[in-house]
Amino acid sequence: MGLYSKKSERIDTENAFKIGPQIRSIEEQGEKVIKCNLGEPDFPVPEFIKEEVKRQLDLDNTHYCDSQGILSLRKAIANHFSETRGIQATPERIVVFPGAKPPIGLCQQTYCDPGDEVIYPSPGFPIYESFIQYVGAKPIPVHLKEEKNFTLSGEDIDSAISQKTKMIFLNFPSNPTGGVASPDQLQDIATVIQKRCSEEVRVFSDEVYEDILFDGSRHHSIISCPGMEKITVLVSGVSKSFSWTGGRIGWALFPTVEEAEIFKNLNINYFSCIPPYNQEGARIALESPLRHDAIHNMVETFQARRDLVVDGLNTIKGIHCQKPKGAFYVFPNIGGVCEDLGVVEAFQSLPPNIRQRTSPATLFQMFLLFTYQVATMDRKSFGRIGSEHLHFLRLSIATDTESLKKGVKRIATASLDREGFRRFIEKKEHLY
Ligand SMILES: Cc1ncc(COP(=O)(O)O)c(C=O)c1O
Repeated sequence: MGLYSKKSERIDTENAFKIGPQIRSIEEQGEKVIKCNLGEPDFPVPEFIKEEVKRQLDLDNTHYCDSQGILSLRKAIANHFSETRGIQATPERIVVFPGAKPPIGLCQQTYCDPGDEVIYPSPGFPIYESFIQYVGAKPIPVHLKEEKNFTLSGEDIDSAISQKTKMIFLNFPSNPTGGVASPDQLQDIATVIQKRCSEEVRVFSDEVYEDILFDGSRHHSIISCPGMEKITVLVSGVSKSFSWTGGRIGWALFPTVEEAEIFKNLNINYFSCIPPYNQEGARIALESPLRHDAIHNMVETFQARRDLVVDGLNTIKGIHCQKPKGAFYVFPNIGGVCEDLGVVEAFQSLPPNIRQRTSPATLFQMFLLFTYQVATMDRKSFGRIGSEHLHFLRLSIATDTESLKKGVKRIATASLDREGFRRFIEKKEHLY
């Protein structure tokens, strides 16, 4: 008998958090790192939300509260979902969580038994794949292709579905590709799911980037397709829309009250409840007319940065990058650089035990971090299975414009620095 359970060995992680100590160690040596790794808007929480949270603290609203989420917030969420998705959401079917992340694992624990299959996009948010292995289900990644603009079609989902399918994860706007889905595309996916799956399959629609859309486009949800409300868990929260990642407020609308009760009980077991003063802040975030300007100003800035970074990256030989339509990431293909700099070659000459833990994109990511002080994320941080030979990086544009300009310049210089890369590999440090 070992110290840790077998299950605990199977959980993966979100590397965007994991590279924090590496960044700190570089900064402790006096170098400033340009942080394009984290998925959090670099804006303050809007003033009207802060004021409400402070007011609630002064009212001593600081005690245990309803484990399902305070009713006033659940009502605001139900109204927001009903108005924006054209459905009839009710507060009884909503559960508030400490962020949009916890329902990912809690849903897998609740809906999946070992051996069940879970479909998810790859590249995708890493926690989907991480939890699938933890709960003993079988991961079925749907690989999004660059040549198809990283879109997901009904046909892609069709070929992934089997009799064992239990959950299907969707994420539009998408992390890390910034892809969005049109109503036709969502209907195409919904038609396949309804044709192939029983009503006991759950679609997990992660819409945490619902407000971050570029070029004037609007958000669309699969839950708006006829018949989908009864099988879809719709998830969102305040982290991205209101630049409030530290507030830890997210929520899910479940198909039935009975399911919401199960998740309420999980909250009782795990968290008891979510801070009520922050929940009141989230309520005002959804209800106040001031929300529109706050979101609009942030999205405008992201769009300008997106254009700057994508245009900059596309001038670098060996890199090409599509223009994302939403979220705040860019996802360049660095295949040319990996060839030109000798990254692929260096990868192939590593001992098998190290090769297993790294990839060419990881080596370039580490070279950028430790030699050029630019923090990015490698492709395998967004789904490991089948990603070893895919040469992409994710850059978050949620960092100030001047730093982004510098970051792109440094990447351009790094992409020509064969000698520097050779020295980096020779040191045999930080290879994964
Ligand atoms: C797709 C996706 N879902 C969920 C989350 C988690 O959000 P939260 O911070 O609200 O838990 C993130 C955060 O990066 C995300 O990118």
